[in-house]
Amino acid sequence: MNLRGKKILLGVCGSIAAYKSALLVRLLVKEGADVRVIMTPSASEFIGPLTLATLSGGPVLQKFVKNEHGEWTNHVELGLWADLYLIAPLSAHTLGKLAGGIADNLMVATYLSARCPVMLAPAMDLDMYAHPSTQRNLKLLQEAGNIILEAESGELASGLYGQGRMAEPEHILVEVQELLQRKQDLAGKHILVTAGPTYEAIDPVRFIGNHSSGKMGFALAEACAQRGAQVSLIVGPTSLPAPKHPRIALHRIQSAQEMCDLSLREFPTCDIGIMAAAVADYRPAEVAEQKMKKENTALSIKLEPTPDIALALGQGKKPGQLLIGFALETDDPIAHAQGKLQRKNFDFIVLNSLADEGAGFGVDTNKVSLIDRQEITSLPLMSKTKVAEAIVDKLITLV
Ligand code: PMT
Repeated sequence: MNLRGKKILLGVCGSIAAYKSALLVRLLVKEGADVRVIMTPSASEFIGPLTLATLSGGPVLQKFVKNEHGEWTNHVELGLWADLYLIAPLSAHTLGKLAGGIADNLMVATYLSARCPVMLAPAMDLDMYAHPSTQRNLKLLQEAGNIILEAESGELASGLYGQGRMAEPEHILVEVQELLQRKQDLAGKHILVTAGPTYEAIDPVRFIGNHSSGKMGFALAEACAQRGAQVSLIVGPTSLPAPKHPRIALHRIQSAQEMCDLSLREFPTCDIGIMAAAVADYRPAEVAEQKMKKENTALSIKLEPTPDIALALGQGKKPGQLLIGFALETDDPIAHAQGKLQRKNFDFIVLNSLADEGAGFGVDTNKVSLIDRQEITSLPLMSKTKVAEAIVDKLITLV
């Protein structure tokens, strides 16, 4: 009964996998969860609302308006009620609506109102699943902070064989338990996270920058907030949407100087700083007021160092404060990371190397080593979400 007291809203879409929702409801209820079910109009062609109502012990919600007296089902209340909104199975049709914010039914309107984590378990035929539109929508929703339970491979309703089966209810239950039982071991802590690149202006249209997407820093901010911390996330230019977690305060900046000013302002009230940003080390000594004109001769731009934010925070670190750094290396990675650990007074440093495939800039995965003054722990290639959780797990041992 380890989901006792947890409020789970289960969305069921029109998909042959809807028959598995009955088992899912049963498993969740057996673990003590309070389950309410929303169905899309076409879902009831695949499974009877009476089945899900009986198993969940409450009426199945399908329409905005409940009866002829105009009494309505309040999607805002539902969105605020839930500890988790789980949509399983998620059809390609509803996936498209979620990604586009098309709130023409109760399920999607509730999604837009939900402040809780959202978990999505897609189910469709293999070609539909592999289609660029589907993959683009899944990526969009993942970047917006939703948890995607990838479809599994196997025999599909069409008779074809491939990826598209909804994750098994037992697997979904484990994911739900992991999420909802996550310890709140950072409750009461204030954490500063820097993320993304910085842009150093050359003139009004050009800049010096780098390839950081902000994904690693955003994953860290989410992981800290989910474990109870209040997070100040300072991020350079990125196309990532703002994190949805209410305990993340997002500050968007452009340059290293702006990131530095804000970090110096925030850090004194923080317990922990995590420096995941790829800060430009140099900036043009002078910024041209007008767009520089093209000449047919070589051009030199005089550069000056930017402030080293991590160094400044490390030097001013008070007893009880923790500072975690990152090192992005291309050669002799351990030695360089250890040098930064000492010089910047980090408590530990997260090393990622551009020599490792799937690690570093832009991608959704990373391969890191956690290095402190005693030991080096090398982790396998994992999603940035899992890497962030591993970093938080190490952090907790030092708090
Ligand atoms: O954003 P993504 O696309 O997800 O990519 C993630 C990442 C590769 C950017 C991230 O994992 C990472 O490695 N960030 C640090 C990159 C970096 O600038 O490393 P560095 O070795 O140059 O800097 C060492 C440390 O000092 C870092 O913690 C950095 O944030 C900090 N620093 C560096 C320069 C500076 N002027 N101020 C700083 O605070």
